Amino acid sequence: MCGIVGAVAKRNIVPVLVNGLLRLEYRGYDSAGLVVVHEGKLERVRSAGRVAELGQKSANTSGEVGIAHTRWATHGKPSERNAHPHMSRELIAVVHNGIIENYEELKAELSAQGYEFTSDTDTEVIAHLIHSHYAQGSLLVATQMALTQLVGAYAIGVIAADNPHLMVAARKGSPLLLGVGEGEHFVGSDMSALLQVTRNVVYLEEGDVVEIKADSFRIFDMAGVRVQRQMHVSELDNDSVELGKYQHYMQKEIHEQPQALANTLESVCNSQSLVPGIFGAEANDIFPHVDNILILACGTSNHAGQVARYWLEEVAGIPCNVEIASEYRYRTSVPNPKTLVVTISQSGETADTLAALNHAKATGHSYTLAICNVPESAIIRQSKLRLLTRAGPEIGVASTKAFTTQLAGLFLLTLVMAKVRGRLDETREQQFLHELRHLPTAMQKVLELEPQIAEIAAHFADKHHALFLGRGMHYPIAAEGALKLKEISYIHAEAYPAGELKHGPLALVDKDMPVVSVAPNDALLEKLKSNLQEVRARGGELFVFADADTHIHSSAGIHILQMPEHAGFLSPILHTAPLQLLAYYVALQKGTDVDKPRNLAKSVTVE
Ligand code: F6R
Repeated sequence: MCGIVGAVAKRNIVPVLVNGLLRLEYRGYDSAGLVVVHEGKLERVRSAGRVAELGQKSANTSGEVGIAHTRWATHGKPSERNAHPHMSRELIAVVHNGIIENYEELKAELSAQGYEFTSDTDTEVIAHLIHSHYAQGSLLVATQMALTQLVGAYAIGVIAADNPHLMVAARKGSPLLLGVGEGEHFVGSDMSALLQVTRNVVYLEEGDVVEIKADSFRIFDMAGVRVQRQMHVSELDNDSVELGKYQHYMQKEIHEQPQALANTLESVCNSQSLVPGIFGAEANDIFPHVDNILILACGTSNHAGQVARYWLEEVAGIPCNVEIASEYRYRTSVPNPKTLVVTISQSGETADTLAALNHAKATGHSYTLAICNVPESAIIRQSKLRLLTRAGPEIGVASTKAFTTQLAGLFLLTLVMAKVRGRLDETREQQFLHELRHLPTAMQKVLELEPQIAEIAAHFADKHHALFLGRGMHYPIAAEGALKLKEISYIHAEAYPAGELKHGPLALVDKDMPVVSVAPNDALLEKLKSNLQEVRARGGELFVFADADTHIHSSAGIHILQMPEHAGFLSPILHTAPLQLLAYYVALQKGTDVDKPRNLAKSVTVE
C-alpha cells in the first residue's frame, strides 16, 4: 500500500530513489513521484504511470536530499495531480503512506488560513500543517507539531527547500525503516528498497520521528524524548528481490516454494520432537490452557486458516473457528479467555487483520499468536506468540509461497496442539515429522507438472467464468485457486464444495464454463467423482488435479492432471501449486500484468 523511499547523502540520490521505488512498486503502482532539493528549490517530478516512466522523466534531475513515492490510490483517483510528493508553497514536500482520518477537518482549517489545495489527497494537509508550524521552529519540531494534529496512520518523509541536507521521517501504523550507510542515510517502506545501498537497518517504532542528515540521525519517540533504537543487519540478499531467470516474480515465487517450505520447517525438521517453544517461550505455559482456537485473517491468508480448521479439529481435537478479519471486529462476539487467537498474515501489516487482533485483545483475549512472514511487523510485535514463515520477500501481488508456508506453520501448530492435548503418540509424531521433512521434495515434484499446466491454460483464455471444486480440507484450496485466477487473469472464478453444486451453481454449467477440481485420494473421492459426472452430463469441461492413486483417467471433456504422490494431511499444500501455475499461465495467455494486477496492491494497510 504505497511505497516510500528517502535519502540524504553527499552524492546525487535520484538513482537511489528510482531504484528503491522499482523495488517497492509491488506496494502500489497507480502513479509515482519524487522531489529533491536543488539549488535552494524543490524540484518535483511526477508521473501518472509506472516507476519506469518516472525514471525517464527524472533522468536530468539531481539533488543530495530527496523523497519518493509509489502510490496505491485511496483519496483521489490515480493521476499526476494526486501523485506524491505533495508540496506546501514550494517550501515543504511530503510523501505519505497511510490514511489521515481527520483530513477534511484539517483541510477546512488550513483553507481558512489561506492554504490552497491542488490535489484530492489526504496527504496534502500534512504538507500544509508542517508549513504552518515551520516559521516557529526547525523541520523536526514543525513535523512533530503537525503529527500531534493527525488522526490515522502514517509513514512520512519530509524535506524543505531551504534545508538541502536534512530529511525528517516518522511512522505510526505504517512501516518505515531507517537505512544506515557510510556518510549517508535512507528511509524505505521495506528492506527491499534499501538493499541497493545498505544492509544496516533500524526498525522505527510506533510514533518514532527521526531527523536525518548524511552523517548522523536522531530518533525521538512519541513523547518527543530522544531514544536509541537497535541497529540490525538484514539477512536479505539482493538475489531474493531480483527476478533472476524468471519472467515474473509470481513464477519465481511459485518455484521458490520447496526452499521456502524447507526454511520454514528447518528448525523442526532438524529436531527429534515437536515442542510448544517453537511458537515462543510463553507457549509452554499458554498452550495447556487453550480450549479453542480463533483464526483471523484476510484473503489468501484466510484460506490458510480454513484449511487449518480441518487439521486442528481432526488431528488435535480442538474446536476452531476461522473468521474474515474485517468482519470479526464489527460483530458482537462472545470472548473466551481460553481462546488462542491466531492471526495469519504475509505482510504483518494488513490493517483489517491488525484491527481484528486489537479488537480480540480489547475484548479480553490475551493468548495471541501471529503466523507471519515479516519479522518486526506490527502483527508480530503486537502478539504474545509467533511463528515466522521463512518464505523470503514476496513481491508478486498474488500470494503464493507465503500461503504454502503459512500452511506448513499451521500444520506445526496442529501437531503441537495435538501433543499438548495427549493426542499424538511418539510413533505418529515421528511419522508426521518424516512427512514434513519430505514436503519440499514432494513440492519440487509437483512443480514438474508445469509444462502440462501451461498447455491446458489455453482452454481458459477465451472464457469469462470458471468454477473450482474441492471437498473437505481441499475446499479452501479450490477457493484459493479461484482467487488466484480472478486476481491475475480477471476471469470470474468461484469455488464451491463439490457437494453444493447441485444446490444451485450447477445451473451455470455449460460448455463455456470450465470446471477445475481438486481430487485427492481421500474419503470423499467417490462422492467427488459423482459430482464430476454431474458436471460432465451438462457439457461442462473438467480439469481435474487428481492424486497418483485415484484411477481417474482423461476422456472426452475430462482433462486429468496426475499429482506425483499422495500426501495425506499435507495434500492441501501440494495441491495448491498446480492451481497457482494454472492461474499464472492463463494470465500469460490473456496478457495481463501478472505481478501487478489492476486495482490491487500488496500489503493492504487501509481498512
Ligand atoms: C491474494 C492476496 C491477498 C492477501 C490479503 C492478506 O493473492 O495476496 O488476498 O492474502 O490481502 O494479506 P496478508 O497476508 O499480508 O495479511
